[in-house]
Amino acid sequence: MKSAHIVALVAVPLLLGACTPKSPPVAPAVPPSSRAIAPVLLTPEARDIHSYAQPAIARVTHVDLDLTADFVAHRLAGTASLDIEAQPAAAQVVLDTRLLDIAAVTDAQGTPLEWSLGENDAILGAPLTVQLKGARRLLIRYTTRPEAPALQWLKPEQTAGRQHPYLFSQGQAVLTRSWVPTQDSPGIRQTWSARIVAPVGLRVVMSAEMSNATGDPVADGPAAGGLAWRFRMEQPVPPYLISIAIGDIAFQSLGPRTGVYTEPSMLQRAAAEFVDLEQMVKTAESIYGPYRWGRYDLLILPPSFPFGGMENPRLTFATPTVIAGDRSLVSLVAHELAHSWSGNLVTNATWADFWLNEGFTVYYENRIMEQLYSKERADMLRDIEWDELHEDFADFGGADSPKTRLHQPLVGGDPDDLVTHIAYNKGALFLRTIEAAVGRERWDTFLRAYFDRHAFQTQTTAGFLAELRADLIHDDAALEKSLALDAWAYGTGLPANAVYTRSEAFAKIDAQAAAFAKRGPKALPSPQDWTSDQRVRFLNHLPRNLDRTRLVELQQFLNLGTQGNSEVLFAWLRLAVANRYDPALPQLETFLTSMGRRKFVLPLFTDLMGQGAWGRPIARRIYASARPGYHYVTTNSVDKIVQPGT
Ligand code: BES
Ligand code: ZN
Repeated sequence: MKSAHIVALVAVPLLLGACTPKSPPVAPAVPPSSRAIAPVLLTPEARDIHSYAQPAIARVTHVDLDLTADFVAHRLAGTASLDIEAQPAAAQVVLDTRLLDIAAVTDAQGTPLEWSLGENDAILGAPLTVQLKGARRLLIRYTTRPEAPALQWLKPEQTAGRQHPYLFSQGQAVLTRSWVPTQDSPGIRQTWSARIVAPVGLRVVMSAEMSNATGDPVADGPAAGGLAWRFRMEQPVPPYLISIAIGDIAFQSLGPRTGVYTEPSMLQRAAAEFVDLEQMVKTAESIYGPYRWGRYDLLILPPSFPFGGMENPRLTFATPTVIAGDRSLVSLVAHELAHSWSGNLVTNATWADFWLNEGFTVYYENRIMEQLYSKERADMLRDIEWDELHEDFADFGGADSPKTRLHQPLVGGDPDDLVTHIAYNKGALFLRTIEAAVGRERWDTFLRAYFDRHAFQTQTTAGFLAELRADLIHDDAALEKSLALDAWAYGTGLPANAVYTRSEAFAKIDAQAAAFAKRGPKALPSPQDWTSDQRVRFLNHLPRNLDRTRLVELQQFLNLGTQGNSEVLFAWLRLAVANRYDPALPQLETFLTSMGRRKFVLPLFTDLMGQGAWGRPIARRIYASARPGYHYVTTNSVDKIVQPGT
């Protein structure tokens, strides 16, 4: 075992500064089966500037929620009971909150405890400081605000069925504190449980084990007439993974431990799209070891869900735009599933190490796609990632921009800004480069052991590099030199040893795109058997300026008027906007008002705003009608782009 610069809070508090760059932190080898909650990493680089918590003094170990969902007032109201582990002399515990209305705080016996809310920060919210008076369990009575950024309350018209309202949460990165008063830091893992009361006719699902498959009638009290649903998560998780959805939700089993939840009218299409789910879990397990969360289900949300997918444990949340009708976008599910290891099992200690979550996951996603489908399909994804990465380099003003670093020493700011292709695609390339240097077998052995050793713990960039040196590189100086680990982890741009994967299936398409740009569709073979990835490639590799004739031909050539694949549609609409092509505007408006996935919405509005007197009025007009349907995550980003009067 390596020297432990990790301190168990209660036993040896505040051993800060014990770490030097030569001996970075490595978590102790706790048996993965252990239920004990891992201590918080207290090395300087593991300090989380996005949380007010002082875990060295007092930390939350368990959260029990008892909440009622009010679909009229758009509020969750009830109690959070927190178990606290603290130094014997700890006077207070500091929690994270954002826009919560706190009614009372008591100890387990109901004795009131003194508390105070600090000043509210637009991103971090407000610290809630509670005087412990020896208490190790707190009961916080509170209500969420209708504008809580983690929660979106949908009107029936915003759902597929149009009959019932809907609620869903999105916790990552720092939003959970707007519906759960706890220490909202990825390094402070907590077990949790919940009792949620919702109106009859709606089903509650959460990222935890369901204790009752149908709700229990509530006989009396303020929630009388509702149904109570119970959940528990016995594996400690970072709070950004606590999540909930309530709506007219049906379920279809897909395998012994897999299934899909969605609105009834979507269920058949969803089940058909994800027939491979059980096999996908098995494939993932065959690469990096057992899936440790019990069930793996999908929840397909209404179209305003701001992300493609969110890796909530046991229950991945996903956008309905992933349902293409031909299973062409299932790599998104492979990605969220992979997070069950990279991210959920081994978690970034702070958001500065976000790439440890996403880079590992993109790498793992690709391995699943290669093994479950084909090398050819995986190669296409890699080639796309390479393109996306270089687009970011260009957008950031060049490969020497500090924004191109994997490790992002944060000096404040919104961790949401870290969702770029750097963390994802440069991160994955880093791991592929190591794989290429040491061989797949050796690399897989290392990684499997790594997931095992750090299961239910956090990791930092420094910690990961230390592991590589200790367990993979050993004393091989030549290997150490050729890998350029520090350049990868802390430097800008791409080190020279980066491995580019050229997809043969794309090389063919690139040639067709060049020919099409010159001569139109005449000499081209029919694109009928092109996959949607190839269609996206074709669109993205056409010159950005095309004349009208070509655009009209293109619409027919790829049948873009009736497009079921959201990625193809998105690529086409970007090209149309770049060319100020009015005939595509109705399609653009329909797309932007029918879903709220930030990855599609933000670039399209950015493109429109970049098109001067033509694009700006269009952007403002469409945004005015689309904005009320978008989630906070999406409006928070687009508001910065589509400003009135600019
Ligand atoms: N964990 C992310 C989503 C996220 C990141 C939410 C940061 C909030 C803050 C999720 O796993 C993800 O990466 N989703 C991608 C899909 C994926 C296939 C790249 C998305 O939503 O587009
Ligand atoms: Zn991800």
